[in-house]
Amino acid sequence: MTNTPTLFRPMTLRGLTLRNRIVISPMCQYTAHEGHLEDWHIVHLGRFATGGAGVVFTEATAVQKSGRITHGCAGLWDDSQIPGHARIAQFVRRNGAVPAVQLGHAGRKSGMQRPWFGNGPLNDDDFARGDMPWTPVGPSAIPVAEGWPVPHELSVSEIADLIEDYAAAARRALAAGYQIAEVHGAHGYLIHSFLSPLSNKRDDAYGGDLAGRMRLALEVTEAVRAVWPDDLPLFFRTSAVDGDPEGWTLDDTVVLARELKARGVDVMDCSSSGIAGAATAG
Ligand SMILES: Cc1cc2nc3c(=O)[nH]c(=O)nc-3n(C[C@H](O)[C@H](O)[C@H](O)COP(=O)(O)O)c2cc1C
Repeated sequence: MTNTPTLFRPMTLRGLTLRNRIVISPMCQYTAHEGHLEDWHIVHLGRFATGGAGVVFTEATAVQKSGRITHGCAGLWDDSQIPGHARIAQFVRRNGAVPAVQLGHAGRKSGMQRPWFGNGPLNDDDFARGDMPWTPVGPSAIPVAEGWPVPHELSVSEIADLIEDYAAAARRALAAGYQIAEVHGAHGYLIHSFLSPLSNKRDDAYGGDLAGRMRLALEVTEAVRAVWPDDLPLFFRTSAVDGDPEGWTLDDTVVLARELKARGVDVMDCSSSGIAGAATAG
């Protein structure tokens, strides 16, 4: 045991022991139908469990239908989506790995092209394929970049609905058998767009100073933690830096991490950037 590299040693988070520290990152597959996971996903994720990983993350999973990145993205906004997730969670668990889910909302980057059709805003070719647009939402009516749709600025009551939808999706994730939940706060999607001063120009309680811009991230986390059992871990994925001197910084991430820890987050899953343009896959 003493000669075993740390990567291959078990690790305990709350009441859960991972067989090793290899975590398969969430990876969108863009092949779901109306948010339902199917055979593709069980093959994609199942092989990581049979291959020996400690944790296997299902891709970014939308808490609202209009929060999908693309028409092919996964969802848990409806009970009918639970069985598809349950099949995966059960297979992953039976093969010794911990099933994990990433709960997200794509915000102003929702309703974009699947990567193999361009990874940009939907265009006439996508409409002809049946991938019709919807109006994305964000903290402010500022598009991701030139040529992208202008998002609808979320009202405070719409934010309250959104937070409830995160909690409802977390309940469904638990019912499906996932043992780790992660709040997707990275890559320019909704929560990140509230954090970053580049995209959040609000002057109400959800904008302005750091505390205001963090409010949505913290309230979503509190809502998910409230339904996620005490003996199961909660992760938060962050874009730790925007890569723009006017944007979100590493110092901001340190403040956020402390606030999240106080609200029961066990792991900060650090990624970066994505606030301006389709730089990331998911
Ligand atoms: C096809 C693909 C899909 C991805 N989908 C997601 C996703 O759903 N959620 C997410 O947070 N990151 C997503 N990412 C980013 C990865 O999780 C990961 O962070 C990235 O590939 C860098 O790998 P590393 O973190 O091991 O350096 C995706 C990456 C790829 C290549």
